[in-house]
Amino acid sequence: MSTSFPADFLWGASTAPHQIEGNNVASDFWANEGRMPGMERSGDACDSYHRYEEDMRLLADNGFNSYRFGIEWARIEPVEGHFSNAELAHYRRMIEAAQRLGLEPVVTLQHFTVPAWFAAKGGWTADDAVEAFSRFVERACTILDGVRWVVTINEPNMLAMMATMALRMQQKVADEWQSPTLDAGAEEKKGRPAVLPEPSPEVGRRLIAAHHAARDIVRAQTQAKVGWTVANGALEARPGSEDVLTRVRQVREDMYLDAAREDDFIGVQSYSTQLVGPDGVEPTPAHPDNTLVGTAYRPDALAMAVRHTAEVTGGIPIMVTENGIATSDDARRIAYTTGALEGLAAAIADGVDVRGYLHWSLLDNYEWGHWEPTFGLVAVDRETFERTPKPSLGWLGGVAKDNGLQ
Ligand code: BGC
Repeated sequence: MSTSFPADFLWGASTAPHQIEGNNVASDFWANEGRMPGMERSGDACDSYHRYEEDMRLLADNGFNSYRFGIEWARIEPVEGHFSNAELAHYRRMIEAAQRLGLEPVVTLQHFTVPAWFAAKGGWTADDAVEAFSRFVERACTILDGVRWVVTINEPNMLAMMATMALRMQQKVADEWQSPTLDAGAEEKKGRPAVLPEPSPEVGRRLIAAHHAARDIVRAQTQAKVGWTVANGALEARPGSEDVLTRVRQVREDMYLDAAREDDFIGVQSYSTQLVGPDGVEPTPAHPDNTLVGTAYRPDALAMAVRHTAEVTGGIPIMVTENGIATSDDARRIAYTTGALEGLAAAIADGVDVRGYLHWSLLDNYEWGHWEPTFGLVAVDRETFERTPKPSLGWLGGVAKDNGLQ
């Protein structure tokens, strides 16, 4: 099926600092790695802290026009109140490198990790959490000149869930690390309990306050469009469980989408779908088609997510800030993405205002405790850091050049 996308559509890939940079030693996640049995360390990761330009070139040379990356709070403010001008200059160089290469930078201010000192004070639940984050955002804005797209917080709904998990780790309720991005069903298969908790609404409300404060600062200090990105489970009700779906969606997603109604755009992040039954979200049953993170193979999830997001946010512009698949079979990545883009094009044809598609992820990277699930358009040798583009990189770059599927 041939498709076409709006003029000036952004085509890119997304990354997050902790997953690719390496040695993010002042962050809370680094401190937790190695503490929990079953959790792998990020270590040098992909060494993108030093190799970011090479990474950006892979996108630019293959036809993309955008790159989403994050700046790391734990590097910029490794000790409370001490802001590193050298680290701010580092991220400024990244922004300028992207612009020089013709890649529209989409900059994330916070992607799951926080400075260890912030976590030690209670993280997002601390009384002064919003003030502390706001101070960081003010500094971050000093390097955002010319940036047109800023994400304040990545997946606040996942973050609220991770805060609950972190508490369990402290209280030693969980005896083994469970990656927040691995489907509970996959964990059960390995003999681990399905423990993914619901995001705490209390933490959620705090994150909404932090987002609104950050949004005001970004608007006052920069020219950028500002929004946040919400994990969308493309949840579907079993017959008779429609009321449960409404409740579950409200606490897992819709409260975060509602909070974006006055934003300049909303980021949609979608990978798969899940069923909701009488007892809530159901773990994905084992199936040979499941991905390496245990989720169902559902290219149609993206269109479902985009349409639901448009309904709840009242039609503010949408950016697909993450969509992809954990697989070792790159042909499957191309097939999945083709399906996702066909659904996206159909949603656009129906009037949904979508401004770009940023694939997760550019590189095979650190999947929050595990290295096995590979989402990248590019493979990375973890000893030498050599990058090897997969066929999907050239293929998606071709879609970008044509601004559509042929
Ligand atoms: C996150 C990424 C993660 C990806 C794949 C999203 O939840 O923003 O950091 O790697 O999904 O699981």
